[in-house]
Amino acid sequence: MAEETSTLAERPERPLPPVRDWPAGELNATEFEPVLAELMREGPLTRIRLPYGEGWAWLATRYDDVKMITNDPRFSRREASVRQVTRLAPHFAPRPGALAWADQPDHNRLRNAVSAAYTVSAVKRLRPRAQEMLDALVDGLVADGPPADLVERVLEPFPINVVCEVMGVPAVERQKLHDWTREIISTAGGAEASEEAKKGLFGWIGEAVRERRDSESDGDSEDVLSLLGGAVRRGELGLEEAISVAGPLQIGGEAVTNNSGQMFYLLLTRPELLQRFRDDPASRPAGIEELLRHIPHRAAVGLPRIATQDVDIHGTRVSAGDAVYVSYLAANRDPDVFPDPDRIDFDRDAGAHVSFGNGPHFCTGAVFSRMQIELLIDTLLKRLPGLRLAVPADQVPFRQRTMIRGPVALPVTW
Ligand code: HEM
Repeated sequence: MAEETSTLAERPERPLPPVRDWPAGELNATEFEPVLAELMREGPLTRIRLPYGEGWAWLATRYDDVKMITNDPRFSRREASVRQVTRLAPHFAPRPGALAWADQPDHNRLRNAVSAAYTVSAVKRLRPRAQEMLDALVDGLVADGPPADLVERVLEPFPINVVCEVMGVPAVERQKLHDWTREIISTAGGAEASEEAKKGLFGWIGEAVRERRDSESDGDSEDVLSLLGGAVRRGELGLEEAISVAGPLQIGGEAVTNNSGQMFYLLLTRPELLQRFRDDPASRPAGIEELLRHIPHRAAVGLPRIATQDVDIHGTRVSAGDAVYVSYLAANRDPDVFPDPDRIDFDRDAGAHVSFGNGPHFCTGAVFSRMQIELLIDTLLKRLPGLRLAVPADQVPFRQRTMIRGPVALPVTW
């Protein structure tokens, strides 16, 4: 079955490839998922079945196809939100108004309500405050001395604090929100725990947006909850929609923790990369893009789309109604775009990677995440000369049964 590739491309219609089970089991550190590597070899388009949901879905792994599908309105997110598509997560309750599940024109309307908080200039204004929050955490780390868990002391609290700052979450509430968001991205606690966490988070956000909607201030505050409160007051979006927009933005903090966790793991286990960053700070911006390209940010695949018309891809007909996944991870390893793709090479131009997605659903937090990652690399390399793992690499525990991959802890010394 693995051989059904290019020779069939000339035929008007290729036979359907077999449906491959993708159990998405235990994963090893930052290893590229072996099942995904096989699927990439099997063809530009394969068919997969994930552990939950119903039926099968197409999977596109080539860079050009991933870019095409994610930018083509014939593939609908809204349609996928009302179907039990085969999926990685056991629980599935898309909220009406969630950015990730909206099509145009709703998607623009929802996204415009918060976009001011995530522009390049907003992130630039936030940077000094973010640096201050990071410095305070590193001061504590240095004062207590080695060894320490870098995840617990810095990589977890820093993005959570910055996200809470942008959202307008008061300091005393931050830990509670973090407990909920961590539970939501885990698949380990099962549907009940995740539903409880979502109830807590969305309930809290609803209260906060209502308060800001009704507040006397005329809303010159830039925080996301205030932007949403103002938009609800002006009738640009409903309260339920505002809650659905805010939830994933709050959850986004977990993405930076896990992504930077993988980044530091790679730097600490490949001394030549860390040394290059130390000796040549000018290599850092390109090096960070290359690490973003390389890091397997998530397990399996993200959210599906549904074809609303028949679409021909390389002679294979994707029929109206079929579910379609793209793999950004696979696209980032497409050898036609990134030669010798498994190698980490700080001298390559990795800027075209799709680690933050592509098209209208491109990650809202991309600029914001890059700023945090830059601060983390610059600050930790400066303040902790001699930073290294305090345990052998194979003893660093990584999250299992999770959607977003990353180390549970990074025991370090310096
Ligand atoms: C969407 C990656 C951090 C908020 C996405 C997508 C990817 C991604 C691949 C999906 C694109 C698609 O659906 O096709 C990442 C990575 C991050 C990160 C690698 C960290 C390094 C964040 C942060 C936030 C955030 C910090 C919150 C501020 C979102 C939202 C969406 C999204 C709201 C949905 C956007 C939409 O559908 O319009 N992200 N993300 N992400 N991300 Fe991120």
